[in-house]
Amino acid sequence: MRVDPAAAHSLGEFIDRSPTQFHAVATAVQMLRQSGFQEFDPSEPSASGRAYYQTGGVLIAWVDGASPDRPGRYIAAHTDSPNLRIRPRPDMVTAGISQLGVEVYGGALLNSWLDRDLGLAGRITVRESSTSTGSGSAVRDILWRCDAPLLRVPQLAIHLDREIGDRGLVLDRQRHMTPIWGIPDGKGVPFGAWIAEQIDVEPGDVLAWDLACFDFQNHSIIGADGEFLCAARLDNLTSCFAGLDALIEVAEDSERPTFLMLFDHEEVGSATSWGADSSLPSRVLELRASALGIERQSWLRALGSSVLLSADMAHATHPNYPERHEPSHHIALGGGPAIKYNSNERYATSSTTAGLFKSVCADAGIAVQEYSHRGDMACGSTIGPLLASQLGIPTVDVGAPQLSMHSAREMMAVADVQMLNASFAAWYR
Ligand code: CO
Repeated sequence: MRVDPAAAHSLGEFIDRSPTQFHAVATAVQMLRQSGFQEFDPSEPSASGRAYYQTGGVLIAWVDGASPDRPGRYIAAHTDSPNLRIRPRPDMVTAGISQLGVEVYGGALLNSWLDRDLGLAGRITVRESSTSTGSGSAVRDILWRCDAPLLRVPQLAIHLDREIGDRGLVLDRQRHMTPIWGIPDGKGVPFGAWIAEQIDVEPGDVLAWDLACFDFQNHSIIGADGEFLCAARLDNLTSCFAGLDALIEVAEDSERPTFLMLFDHEEVGSATSWGADSSLPSRVLELRASALGIERQSWLRALGSSVLLSADMAHATHPNYPERHEPSHHIALGGGPAIKYNSNERYATSSTTAGLFKSVCADAGIAVQEYSHRGDMACGSTIGPLLASQLGIPTVDVGAPQLSMHSAREMMAVADVQMLNASFAAWYR
């Protein structure tokens, strides 16, 4: 049966427009503004009852609803994905080839970055010219992406790696992941000067950058009947997009307040000023309450009775490796969102929160699956347990099934995009 690819294409386009976490937030803000959301001003309640707070790779957006002081429904996800980040002093020439030094961000599947046309995108911090600000010390961040494929990490030829058949591909994060980007004539172009030219500032004004490589190939729909979506960063822009879609959908007629919180740095532990393991969410939420004139006591009471859905991708059962999965908890691509359980609290789901999500989905006619990790393998985690402990609110961990998690190009079922979006809207309602 062919499923409607519209939602998967919308997600694919969101991903194509969002090569880094900074771009994901910028794209999300554009979507929110088109739907009447306004940037949060802590000194007054938002006139439209829809607001967002944004900084770097973080976005917190909400709809006040008919009763803004009631307990709310929350969804949280992460904007970052594993990738290759450009070092502060990246210039190197080896064997007559210019290369850029990179550092691996998060738990990337290194092999997936080989032999791809790589783009470059992120944030560049420049000196504000002293004439425009009256001071020599101001800085400005520029969101930037290169509009052409630029880099490549070539794999070693099989003739020069004869053991690969026996021991598999072995990649060293320091030595083997350095992308090629030119053949220098004379001294070659220093990266900082090249960047300055791209963004049209003086070379001396480029101070620092947060730049990452990304797979230049856009999303595609594949399979005998168009069943699958292939794209970069499905983990976790799928959840970010589903949350945005749902928040915008309920904005018109929400009874209760609804919140979407998107954080950076999940792939490296979340304990940063922009991570889920920071005081940022409680600070922003409290500022919202005070802007609305909600007494602190009623706010704390409402928060305690709220519920959070922590959204991150789930492992579908891999048909080539079924033995890697818990035999009673196989997860089917196209089978609907998976609730993630872990007795050791790697996931924050409790019977109460799982029950709530199941009943919400049953009412909306959406199938639900249940994930539990093998006992003989270390289980991953999410921002769910971090936020549950920060905010002290009951939490359920949920995610759409996918294959190739942390690859430069991942895969999921088209049907799951639709079901995830619908389940999030039902959760908010
Ligand atoms: Co994730």
